[in-house]
Amino acid sequence: MIIGIIGAMIEEVQPLLNEIKLEKKVHKAQMEFNYGKLWDKEVVIVKSGIAKVNAAICTQILVDDFNVDAVINVGVAGGVAKDIYPGDVIVADNLVQHDVDSTVFGDRRGQIPRIDTFDFKCDKNLILKVKEACKNIDHCKCFVGRIVTGDQFIADKEKIKWLSEEFNALACEMEGGSIAQVAYLNNIPFVVIRSASDNANNGAHMEYEEFKPIAVNNSVRILKNMIKSM
Ligand code: ADE
Repeated sequence: MIIGIIGAMIEEVQPLLNEIKLEKKVHKAQMEFNYGKLWDKEVVIVKSGIAKVNAAICTQILVDDFNVDAVINVGVAGGVAKDIYPGDVIVADNLVQHDVDSTVFGDRRGQIPRIDTFDFKCDKNLILKVKEACKNIDHCKCFVGRIVTGDQFIADKEKIKWLSEEFNALACEMEGGSIAQVAYLNNIPFVVIRSASDNANNGAHMEYEEFKPIAVNNSVRILKNMIKSM
């Protein structure tokens, strides 16, 4: 089994790259695909770059060139639900792209026109493994639900209110929904594990810098625990 692991930023994948027993590096689309063993499992670790197009290209390369059997996206997110605080972990059970809007044709906000699903559902087995991993980690508050994705860093109270009301979202970020779409189209199981770096409100960019290291650390700790059980 080959597991593709995607983080958008170097901060999100560096702790994993520090531990990989590297066998091969492949460059494509300005991305570096690191193939090797991580905690005895066969993996490809890659920094996709930020936002939906980068993440989609990256996922398709993992499918086409590395034949991955599963995709895991790790990293940070903005907390949307009221009870989520920086450091908390959010595991997606499904993802929606909040910036897709073809409402003039009668579609719901977030619905990608002419695709046969509204949300992209994560693999149930992988979700279970993440939940189990969270239980094994001290001081880890773990939420499971919808994550929304868009090409926007959200730093606006009104916008989070809307994301919460319109989509019932727990958290927002900029890649998960497009990784999910590509994995769905290719029939590959996937899961998205994020930790809140901010509350996506007016001071989000400042909180983000402060809490990012804690949030990255949490998502990596869970991934480590989870991968060992795969
Ligand atoms: N990733 C981390 N925080 C975020 C936010 N507030 N909006 C979008 N993506 C994020």
